[in-house]
Amino acid sequence: MGQTLREFIKETSCSQRKDQNIQSLDLELMACSLFDIDRSKLFSSYILLDQKRKAQFLSMIQRRNSGEPLAYILGEKDFWNVELEINDQVLVPRPETETLIEDILLSFNQHRLSVLDLGTGSGAISLALKKEREEWNIFSSDFSEKALGIAKTNSLKNDLHIFLACSNWLNAFRPNSFDLIISNPPYIKDDDLRLESDGLSHEPRSALISGPLGIEDLYTISDNAKDFLKKRGWLYLEHAPQQAEELKFSLTDLGYINITQLIDLNGDPRAIKALSV
Ligand SMILES: C[S@@+](CC[C@H](N)C(=O)[O-])C[C@H]1O[C@@H](n2cnc3c(N)ncnc32)[C@H](O)[C@@H]1O
Repeated sequence: MGQTLREFIKETSCSQRKDQNIQSLDLELMACSLFDIDRSKLFSSYILLDQKRKAQFLSMIQRRNSGEPLAYILGEKDFWNVELEINDQVLVPRPETETLIEDILLSFNQHRLSVLDLGTGSGAISLALKKEREEWNIFSSDFSEKALGIAKTNSLKNDLHIFLACSNWLNAFRPNSFDLIISNPPYIKDDDLRLESDGLSHEPRSALISGPLGIEDLYTISDNAKDFLKKRGWLYLEHAPQQAEELKFSLTDLGYINITQLIDLNGDPRAIKALSV
């Protein structure tokens, strides 16, 4: 008789070396995806692993052990309240980015806000907000056509309507148009050694790197966004914790007021919001 799925997961968990990426939870999620079952069914049912499925499972394990993010292997990732289809043309949405969503939802309850999400990638920020605030007009832009294709797929998958635009940052938009401009832009230095680490090394370079300093795209967006925000519009930016002070000074210099840092679940300053007057 063949091996059961439960036996295979147990055996594989035990045989993984400490330096390998895979964790028991990853194995369980891969098995659920492969057999299209809920995690609750995984150990309660008697599922036999035939040769074909075993080969598929082993290939997933090999990809994970080579550092590929789990979201690319499963082809999906949950973000806030939406399920997103993900592939290697887009950044894997991070829990840190939910810091912005949380603050925006707590701060804005008005109907009919006009919102721009710059560098939308998979559409994570736009779709999470649209699901919570149906009446907002949400514009989502990226300069990557491939990323916009995934954002479109995700808007259809979640049955949420957003306006998609291919644009180099604000080039495609009209001044004085938005109540909120939000961006999680690339913010890593081009020679940062972490780019070679597991996970990051599989993600698109153009979603991660922003020139020799790392802060270039944050400056470009802060500088230009003032003209595209309506009077008393808010800018929200995600950034690396070590960029917090520099960005705060630069926003002050640019004339923004009410500059406030937002702290993520790890206790790090991860985002900043500023009012344009
Ligand atoms: C860090 S990813 C963020 C993706 C998504 N918003 C999220 O939070 O998961 C940055 C995104 O900005 C896009 N991007 C980079 N440079 C850009 C530019 N000059 N104009 C427009 N989008 C750009 C990348 O293609 C990528 O999708």
